[in-house]
Amino acid sequence: MIDLQPVKGTRDFYPPQLRLRNWLFNSWRKSAQQAGFEEYDACVLEHEALYIRKAGDEISQQLYNFEDNSARRLSLRPEMTPSLARMILQKQKSLSYPVRWFSIPQCFRYERMTRGRKREHYQWNLDIIGEPTILAELEIISTLIRSLKELGLDSEDFRIFINDRRILNAMLEQLKVPQDLQNSVLVVLDKRDKLPVDALRSELANQGLNDNQAAQLIQFLELPDFKAVAERLENQDVLNELKNILDQFQKMGLGTCLQFDISIVRGLSYYTGTVFEVNTPTKSSRAISGGGRYDSLLSAFGGPAIPAVGFGFGDVVILEILEETKKLPKLKQELDLVIFALDSQHDEMAMGVAHQLRDAGLKVQTQFGPMKMQKALQQANNLGVAFAMFCFPDELNRDEVVIRDLHNREQKAYSLSKITDLPWMGKD
Ligand code: HAM
Repeated sequence: MIDLQPVKGTRDFYPPQLRLRNWLFNSWRKSAQQAGFEEYDACVLEHEALYIRKAGDEISQQLYNFEDNSARRLSLRPEMTPSLARMILQKQKSLSYPVRWFSIPQCFRYERMTRGRKREHYQWNLDIIGEPTILAELEIISTLIRSLKELGLDSEDFRIFINDRRILNAMLEQLKVPQDLQNSVLVVLDKRDKLPVDALRSELANQGLNDNQAAQLIQFLELPDFKAVAERLENQDVLNELKNILDQFQKMGLGTCLQFDISIVRGLSYYTGTVFEVNTPTKSSRAISGGGRYDSLLSAFGGPAIPAVGFGFGDVVILEILEETKKLPKLKQELDLVIFALDSQHDEMAMGVAHQLRDAGLKVQTQFGPMKMQKALQQANNLGVAFAMFCFPDELNRDEVVIRDLHNREQKAYSLSKITDLPWMGKD
C-alpha cells in the first residue's frame, strides 16, 4: 500500500488552504510592492556548500541534502538568503544599489516538529542589499510593521524584539572570549530557551568557555533593559546604532511596536549587527518572523563586502496566530456566477452561455444536469456565489434563462440573446 499521508512535516494544500495561502502571499506582495521592492525567485535546489558554516548553525544539520548522478552535493534550500547572496554576486556589477528585493520561497528543514515548526514552509523574504546605514533597518522594519497590520494584527498583538550582535560581541570581548569563537558561542546562546541550563553550560564549556565566563554571559542575557545593559558594558559605542534605530521609530510613531531585548541572538551565524524577531508581546509562540543585518555574507561567498539587511516571515506561525485570534478571513472560491443546466439535455447550451460570459470577463462555473432545484440552491449557497442561472424548460422555450440574485433572493428571466449585456449584474 502507498502511504496516502503527505510526507511527515509537509502539507497538502486543498483549495480552502490554498485560498488562505494565496491571501497571505498577496498581502505580503502588496506590502513589499508598496515600499518599492521587486520580486525575484530561484530554484529550490541549491549547492549544499551555501549552507555549510563553521560556526555550527543548526540549519547546517537540518538539510535535505543528497548527491546527484554527477556527484554534485545538492540541497533543498532551508532558507533564501544564501541564494539571494549568490544571485547578487553573480550580477554585482550590473545592479544599482541599494537593491530592494523580495521573494516568497518554499524552504525545507529537517526540524524536530513542534507547534509552529514544520519541515516545509513558505517564507516571505524582504532584503535591502548595499545600504550600510540604519536607513536599511528603518525601511525593512517599517515595512514589516505595515505588513503585520495589513494582515489584521493590532499594535498590541505583536512586538518586534530587537538587539544588536555588536553588543553581544562587545560583551564576549569584555569576557575575553577569543574573536574566532564568538560566532559559535552566539549560535549556542541562541538555543538558550530550548536547553536546560546545565546542558547550556556544558555546550558553552565545549566552546572553550570557563564557568565564570558562562555564568556572566547567561546573566548578561537576562538584563531587563537598555540602561542595565549600558551599565554593564565597557564599550558604549556599540549601543549607538540601536539607540538611533529606536529613536527613529519613536519619531515615526511606531515606538511601541519595538522593544529592546538583549536576549535576542538569532541562530544564523551570518548576522553581524541588528537582529530582531517578531512575536506576541508575551513571546507566547515561536518567532513569527526573524531577521537582521548581515554585512559579511557576500564576502564570505568570495565577493566584495556588500552590506545587507532583511528578514524571513514564515507562513506557519502567522496563520496559527490569526486562526487563534479569529482574524482569518472567510474566503470563498472566486466566482461571479454558477449556471445550473438542471437537465442533461441543456448541458451543451449551458456550456455555450458560460463560454460567452467568460469571454465577457466573468468567472463562471457550469453545473451539469440532472439536478433538483433544492440541491442546486444548496450548492450555490455552499459556493458563496452572488448569482445563479437556471435553465428551466418554459423559459428556454422563449429563449430565456432565469437569473437569481442569491443575496436578496430575487430572480428574473433574461433573454439569452442579450445575456452578455449583464444588466442583471448591475452592470450597464
Ligand atoms: P529564520 O529566523 O531561520 O531566518 O527564519 C525566519 C522565519 O521563517 C521564522 O521566524 C519563521 O517564521 C519561519 N520559519 C523558519 N523555520 C521554520 C519551520 N521549520 N517551520 C515553519 N516556519 C519556519 C532566516 O531564514 C533568514 N534567512 C531570514 C533573513 C532574510 N535574514 C535576512 N534576510
